[in-house]
Amino acid sequence: MGQPLLNPITLFISNPCTSSLSIFIICILGFYTLHYPHASPSPSNSQTALRFRRSFLSSATNATVAAYLRALTKHPHLAGTKPSLDTIHYVQSHLSGLGLQTHTAHYNALLSYPLHSSLSAHFSNGSHVDIPLAEPGLSHDGGGVVQPYHAYSPSGSAHAKVVFVNHGSGEDYRALEALGVNVSGCVVIARRGGDLPRGEAIRNAEKNGALAVLLYTEGDSRYNQGFERGVVMNGVGDPLTPGWGGVDGAERLDLEDPEVLKRFPNVPSMPLSAEAAGNILGTLGGAPAPPEWRAGVERVGPGPTVLNFTYQGEKKMVTIQNVFAVIKGLEEPDRYVLLGNHRDAWTYGAVDPNSGTAALLDIARRYALLIHSGWNPRRTIILCSWDAEEFGMIGSTEWVEQNLVNLGSKAVAYLNVDCAAQGPGFFVGATPQLDNLILEVTKKVKDPDLEGSTVYENWLTKNGIIDIQRLSGVDSDFASFVQHAGVPSIDIYYGRDFPVYHTAFDSYDWMREFGDPLFHRHVAVAGIWGLIALHLADDSILPFNYFSYVDQLKHYKDFLSHLLDGSISLDPLTTAIEEFAYAAKEAEDEAQLREEESTSEFVMLKKRALNDRLMLAERGFLDSDGLEGRQWFKHLVYGPPSDHGSKLFFFPGVADAMNQAKSTKTGQGQAKLQHEIWRVARAIQRAARSLRGEIY
Ligand SMILES: *[C@@H]1O[C@H](CO)[C@@H](O)[C@H](O)[C@H]1NC(C)=O
Ligand SMILES: *[C@@H]1O[C@H](CO)[C@@H](O)[C@H](O)[C@H]1NC(C)=O
Ligand SMILES: *[C@@H]1O[C@H](CO)[C@@H](O)[C@H](O)[C@H]1NC(C)=O
Ligand SMILES: *[C@@H]1O[C@H](CO)[C@@H](O)[C@H](O)[C@H]1NC(C)=O
Repeated sequence: MGQPLLNPITLFISNPCTSSLSIFIICILGFYTLHYPHASPSPSNSQTALRFRRSFLSSATNATVAAYLRALTKHPHLAGTKPSLDTIHYVQSHLSGLGLQTHTAHYNALLSYPLHSSLSAHFSNGSHVDIPLAEPGLSHDGGGVVQPYHAYSPSGSAHAKVVFVNHGSGEDYRALEALGVNVSGCVVIARRGGDLPRGEAIRNAEKNGALAVLLYTEGDSRYNQGFERGVVMNGVGDPLTPGWGGVDGAERLDLEDPEVLKRFPNVPSMPLSAEAAGNILGTLGGAPAPPEWRAGVERVGPGPTVLNFTYQGEKKMVTIQNVFAVIKGLEEPDRYVLLGNHRDAWTYGAVDPNSGTAALLDIARRYALLIHSGWNPRRTIILCSWDAEEFGMIGSTEWVEQNLVNLGSKAVAYLNVDCAAQGPGFFVGATPQLDNLILEVTKKVKDPDLEGSTVYENWLTKNGIIDIQRLSGVDSDFASFVQHAGVPSIDIYYGRDFPVYHTAFDSYDWMREFGDPLFHRHVAVAGIWGLIALHLADDSILPFNYFSYVDQLKHYKDFLSHLLDGSISLDPLTTAIEEFAYAAKEAEDEAQLREEESTSEFVMLKKRALNDRLMLAERGFLDSDGLEGRQWFKHLVYGPPSDHGSKLFFFPGVADAMNQAKSTKTGQGQAKLQHEIWRVARAIQRAARSLRGEIY
């Protein structure tokens, strides 16, 4: 937030819980009314399908959702701890109690827990204070809330002068250098923000020679004694089993393996409360803070205040568990529509993530009602409750890695909800072929905050435009589905930047008072989420629209052309996008044709063949070599840039090459950049060919 707009088509927002990446505003209003020909199932059963969708919508109740949330948030339930077993049991017995078939998948994963920490400030007048390192009223084991820490921070200590580094971005360090401030040998304090991932703020500090890092989160002053716990490991999934499932007896890398070590920072770090940070920063001397950083921090140091900091933690192998409920498809049991949410929480997790869990459990309740009234989905629906998301999407990633081939060939879509209800305002991210379905479904669901309006109407009125974010971030469980497996995905939430994020204050009481007092936002999320899944599971032709993908790719290409000089050719992209547009048109025409045809077995087979092409086109964007230096990331359109400073939140390989071109010899850098553009072009061609389905 507060970032200058880079370009009319991009706007950077910060949402601490799910994707904090760019929103690409797409001007799609008129466009979509023109191109939405295949929303409903084939004529003979469309009335029935409509009846089930209506009865799904009318079965919404806020009381059930509230009761589930109450039960889920009774105790803190950090992944890998004893109390988390209660929530596993609660979710599983709820699902099986509804008569749904349930499964669990467990993995042994390397998680990280705190043992001891201390911090004292030593002022220039000779006095010193101990800084509290937990929310008031919580002792280290008080109520089972884990003491504030950064998962996977190394143990260590530092006794050194303090420097304030703003968000700790590359740009911030350049500003410090211009002021003549050298952070080498200091303890740095940074405030979370500017979309900078936690781990990157720490790595930047490390690169600049800092001895330790303290991160605080500024926001609502009522919660300025809160500590934002979080993970500081790079990448996604269990560090010991990169690319394969961490099942019993699996191959595991050694803790000292360079592949493992490179995922952890080398300097210790900790969260700090905004109150404590303010008290320390108020005592700094040295250079004056650049005015654009922050009113309230006058000087950045170093010192004279000295901090004495220690952190001791342990990395431990623990068992984590995903829980699934399966509703088998009648006609196409081997096609999967997946709805997923994580269950593990830093503390009580009322917002993050159990508002989403409560919505998922209510969808299960409502689907069970449909089943009782005679509904059978056409395709298989799987409800997924992930573990250890907070440690780097570990539960979902291990499962995706273990089931890569089945998901690659059979997963229609993955629908994620992490923090369902953080506050007011509808937000959604998606791979673009799902944009259209999102619009159609939000037109059917009541707005939780505006009487008489639909979610769609209020969304449009509030923003003046429909904005759908893209899934380049690695901050929720959609990451492996999109970026590793190439499964079309959606991520839905209400509100963002909620002030109790990852603190001990993220409780049921906070939800009741502020997040969603009447649980209507929970109900809206469950309605949208469940209805999208019903369409994907029941529509005879998958409601995917590739025109919006074409449109989005064209925007990316134009955006890129403004950043690059004439020595780099974007022609390969232009050609590939044209091919993709042609394939999208063909698929759309065929969809219209099939829509009008009878439901004979022969036509159903043809529909299935078309659906397979619609489903598999997204996989075309995967490249088996992956991104350079981080091969796990296979998607060449969506993925995180390795340096946040690049501000290019698509084509991650191109983003990295642009960054490197700045620091290498021109010729080499440019050649590399051109190569990355070719790779993206080939990925788009692969998607086009898989959409066309022709190999000749
Ligand atoms: C020393 O400085 C600190 C920080 O400015 C202040 O809080 C404290 O009251 C001072 N102590 C004395 C004895 O002046
Ligand atoms: C900062 O200080 C360290 C250690 O004193 C030194 O090695 C480094 O070169 C300095 N950096 C700059 C940019 O002056
Ligand atoms: C710093 O803190 C550690 C751990 O609390 C303590 O053992 C050590 O004596 C302190 N050092 C100074 C110089 O205060
Ligand atoms: C559910 O919504 C109704 C109507 O707005 C409200 O009166 C009731 O208190 C809500 N229930 C809960 C549990 O929030």
